[in-house]
Amino acid sequence: MNNLPKVILGRLPFYAVRSSQVCATRCYSTGGNETKFPKNVLENLNTAQEQQTNGVIYDKKPFRMELEEGKRYSWCLCGRSKGQPLCDGTHKLVQYKITQRPIRFQVEKSGTYWLCNCKQTKHRPFCDGTHKCEEVQKTAGK
Ligand code: FES
Repeated sequence: MNNLPKVILGRLPFYAVRSSQVCATRCYSTGGNETKFPKNVLENLNTAQEQQTNGVIYDKKPFRMELEEGKRYSWCLCGRSKGQPLCDGTHKLVQYKITQRPIRFQVEKSGTYWLCNCKQTKHRPFCDGTHKCEEVQKTAGK
């Protein structure tokens, strides 16, 4: 069993993870070159990107989604939305005492994107391969 703090939400076990606990070293290869991640057009327009904690691990793999240029989305950071990978407002329920807020984002052009579902990515809201690390993969759940 891992040593991550376990949080019970409803009947499903979730694991609360601080970003510093996950992947002290990079767990994916960039092939020697800088990996290019999609750009969040709204990245500099809000402070949500600066949140220090990550949400609970919802899934151990990313979610592929068609996104439209010019359309605004809210990516769930807390990991408790039932409409993953997007926010459904669950973080506002006071009984859960959730401190994370969703990440508002917009893509530069329409297309297929991989959105992080483990909620541990360092390139919110896009998957950066962090889900492959042992700390994420050995957690219970999906
Ligand atoms: S699903 Fe989170 S980094 Fe890939």
